[in-house]
Amino acid sequence: MTGTTPRGANTEQEASRWVRGMFGRIATRYDLLNHLLSFNLDRRWRTRAVERVSEILARPDARVLDLCCGTGDVLLAMERRRKCMAFGSDFCHPMLIEARRKVASPLFEADALMLPVADGTFDLITIAFGFRNLANYRRGLEELRRVLRPDGTLAILEFSQPSNRAFAALYGFFSTRVLPWIGGVVSGSREAYSYLPESIRKFPSAGELASEMRAAGFGRVDFERMTGGAVALHLGHKAD
Ligand SMILES: C[S@@+](CC[C@H](N)C(=O)[O-])C[C@H]1O[C@@H](n2cnc3c(N)ncnc32)[C@H](O)[C@@H]1O
Repeated sequence: MTGTTPRGANTEQEASRWVRGMFGRIATRYDLLNHLLSFNLDRRWRTRAVERVSEILARPDARVLDLCCGTGDVLLAMERRRKCMAFGSDFCHPMLIEARRKVASPLFEADALMLPVADGTFDLITIAFGFRNLANYRRGLEELRRVLRPDGTLAILEFSQPSNRAFAALYGFFSTRVLPWIGGVVSGSREAYSYLPESIRKFPSAGELASEMRAAGFGRVDFERMTGGAVALHLGHKAD
């Protein structure tokens, strides 16, 4: 379990540069394609993630970071429930420009593997569909653990592999045949929407990700599957 490996990228730096460039190219079409290709389920997945951390969001003194915030949809989903300060961060400038149009939260540009943030800053870090793209998962988890307060919460919402065989076959067909075609036509970047199913296929299973979180120093780790296992939400807490 190292990190994402887009085709043609031979080092972590190259993988990271490729991911940043790719999101930069699709930023203006990202929201439309997200809703279209997920049949709008993406909104429901983020809402569920926000519900699970709503107790923290309701605390006026809590500090929250939505990492890999992209165009800001998690921040948007938090808005109604949130009584505390929430920041957004991403390393792709064009995605942050889109987010700026939608949310008032403070945003900053940074690599999730090297956050310009002091140790123990946040009570909650959320990361939706961003973790899979990190060039090194273990380093990512260690960095998130570093910037969380003791007992702070990490919520990772990410694609996963459906468990039911019939659904997995259908999902496989849709994600490898239909999705790259529609994504390519609408965004103009077929490689971005070919990378998506490939990166999902290579990503660890929900159980493996939970083990990796425990190994990186998170306790009380649990996960729930959504939409037949196509998506999983992991929660963990910074353990001593
Ligand atoms: C699939 S988008 C998800 C955006 C948003 N969280 C959502 O729910 O729609 C993944 C985002 O992760 C960002 N990202 C990937 N690797 C990153 C890294 N190492 N540091 C910061 N952001 C990263 C990308 O720039 C992109 O905006």
